[in-house]
Amino acid sequence: MVNKISIVGAGRVGESTAQMLAIQKLAQQIVLIDLDEQYAKGVALDIQETSSVYHFDAGLMGASDISNIQDSNIIIITAGMPRKPGMDRADVLAINLKIIDEIMDGIIEYAPDAYVIVVSNPVDVLTYYANQKANWPRNRIMGQAGILDSMRLSSFIAMETDYSINDIQAMVLGGHGDTMVPLPRFTTVSGISIEHLLDQKTIDRLIQRTRNGGAEILNLKQKSSAYDAPGAAVTIMVEAIVHNKHRLLPCITMLEGEYGQTDIAIGVPVVLGKNGVEKIVELDFTDKEQQDFNASAQAIKGLIKEI
Ligand code: LAC
Repeated sequence: MVNKISIVGAGRVGESTAQMLAIQKLAQQIVLIDLDEQYAKGVALDIQETSSVYHFDAGLMGASDISNIQDSNIIIITAGMPRKPGMDRADVLAINLKIIDEIMDGIIEYAPDAYVIVVSNPVDVLTYYANQKANWPRNRIMGQAGILDSMRLSSFIAMETDYSINDIQAMVLGGHGDTMVPLPRFTTVSGISIEHLLDQKTIDRLIQRTRNGGAEILNLKQKSSAYDAPGAAVTIMVEAIVHNKHRLLPCITMLEGEYGQTDIAIGVPVVLGKNGVEKIVELDFTDKEQQDFNASAQAIKGLIKEI
């Protein structure tokens, strides 16, 4: 079976993702869909021209007609308006909701068996919307956020301490916004919680930097949001599905009672394999952790009410 992966939105996150998927040989066909057809073709060709360096056989194509996603195994949605400096992820909700709505029409028509990874912001709300619209089993439509947020926390720990990035595992749950829930108790250096290794002030500072991680990049770059780290985070999810790795990763999924929540898509630890979200792992939260998680869920639900 040909593994075909389509990326809807050939902006910088889409491009970075396509490049990593090709280099890591995770797809035989990679399709980039964008309203700007020439741009999508340009991105596809540019990456195709790296194949002799990275030795991949994948064929890339760019197009604007959504029907080109036909029979994709995995579809990654990165289309939408990125936020500008000073904007919140929620500020782009109305515009991106309309875009996701149209894309989901195309996915339901042309790739009804696909696994869908939502990346566009506000990603938790859009993942919820995509699930409502398609009404597929919840294991097939998920969102990316927690992996990126956890990657950021891991990097900040490594940058601030002498610990090797290879030994650091972070866990950030909740919504992808100011209310995200970094969990120091489940963030470890070789299995040892950072609560045993760092003082509280340092932990608080690293957590704050993580919450602000997207804005930090945006404020530095001004002309663009983050795209290298988001592309890498999506690639981790694709790899887990394509190679059926059963990885335990923080991903956005619909909850049906888990963590005391229903009718919401939010970041929780899941097992990701060839069937998408194969399991939701429920942690035994402390009261404080549960409070933080509930506050994050409330923030998402506030936005869901607007749609
Ligand atoms: C970030 C944006 C893309 O976190 O959500 O960088």
